[in-house]
Amino acid sequence: MNVHDSEKIAGILSESGYVHAESVNNADVIVINTCNIREKAGQKFYSELGRLKAVKKNKPHLRIAVAGCIAQQEGADLFKKFPYVDFIFGPQNIDHLQEWIQEDSFRSALGDNPDFHKKTLPVRREGRLRAWVSIMYGCDNFCTYCVVPYTRGRERSRPGAEIYSEISTLAEAGFREITLLGQNVNSYGKNLAGYMDFPDLLRMIHEIEGIQRIRFVTSHPRDLSDKLVNVMKDLPRLCEHIHLPVQSGSDRILHLMNRGYTYEEYRRKIGTLRNAIPGIAVTTDIITGFPGETDEDFQRTLNVLTEIEYDGIFAFKYSERPDTKACNLPGPVEERTKSRRLSEILELQELVTYRKNKALEGEILEVLVEGTSETDSNKLTGRTRTNKIVNFYGDEKDIEKVLYVKIIEARQHSLNGEIYTG
Ligand code: 5AD
Ligand code: SF4
Repeated sequence: MNVHDSEKIAGILSESGYVHAESVNNADVIVINTCNIREKAGQKFYSELGRLKAVKKNKPHLRIAVAGCIAQQEGADLFKKFPYVDFIFGPQNIDHLQEWIQEDSFRSALGDNPDFHKKTLPVRREGRLRAWVSIMYGCDNFCTYCVVPYTRGRERSRPGAEIYSEISTLAEAGFREITLLGQNVNSYGKNLAGYMDFPDLLRMIHEIEGIQRIRFVTSHPRDLSDKLVNVMKDLPRLCEHIHLPVQSGSDRILHLMNRGYTYEEYRRKIGTLRNAIPGIAVTTDIITGFPGETDEDFQRTLNVLTEIEYDGIFAFKYSERPDTKACNLPGPVEERTKSRRLSEILELQELVTYRKNKALEGEILEVLVEGTSETDSNKLTGRTRTNKIVNFYGDEKDIEKVLYVKIIEARQHSLNGEIYTG
């Protein structure tokens, strides 16, 4: 989400005539797009911003803007601490950059922006083949650990016609894969007049000629419906992959997190998905050391990894975030316990990931070729429909094509293969 916001920020600047500077020292405008999901992301930002003080001193015309979730949460305090910052704006106010860059007339844009979701902003995309497309902004779920509802505001869906036209333009420009973005894509459409839900949206954009692969993130387990599963089964361009964050295997912790499902309900939904869509890859997010998490709760999370057998996971130590309800929960978990639990999770998952990759040896898989491999320029690299990276010898003329590749060797984080000619 944050990376795509940066593409929009760069899009606005490009449209206003700016070009990408080679280095910080060459820049006339610097925008730092911040993330506040965990504390670590914040620390990086503050050291970066500190370094810009000297740059600005030598170049007074330099304009510095701070965007993103830290800007939103810290607000005007940022000016006090860093008076050399010129403009701060939150994720809902990216469009204000357009006016600021031309007029230099305001210092902050942090308020509710009720029409933001109706605007289609220019985007300077990082690739030529795969593109992100926002379908909704904000989040109303208020998971008790999460800062997003406070920084990105209320949930608002983009009108279907806007999404359709953005994707059509991408298809005409040669993009082959799109990833639909939203904090909770399964509740798409709730705020729109004329009811269209997420499965309906998928059916509509599936018609767009030229787009070969459609992905989406993130699904909330509570809102994943049978209707969605059926659409995933029916529509051939929808990739066989779902990212379904479980967060914890303990019902007690899930309740404290306000996630709105039990592990058993979650497990059943994975069963339904796997029955309907054979070979579907499943990935997840996990938090270790949420307040009050006991060894027993943690053990339940470990059991989930063995039981579900994810294709991949993102795991994080719980990080206390300002304003969130979890700040007031009793039983904070010690840092070293959090770290130990995180290592245990990652270690167990490494085994599972490798085993799952190993099971693909001998299979012939569809690969969208993205480019040459970073480690061996004679090799091409691409992804399967299940989002696994495959490296194989091939000709540069095959870049951007869809090929069939036979998997020869499983690695920990990728697969080696050879082109299958039938
Ligand atoms: N601490 C740790 N992890 C968090 N996430 C969100 N908020 C926090 C937090 N305060 C994780 C969740 C979410 C992912 C995007 O980031 O697992 O699914
Ligand atoms: Fe945060 Fe929960 Fe919303 Fe995801 S669904 S953005 S974890 S509040």
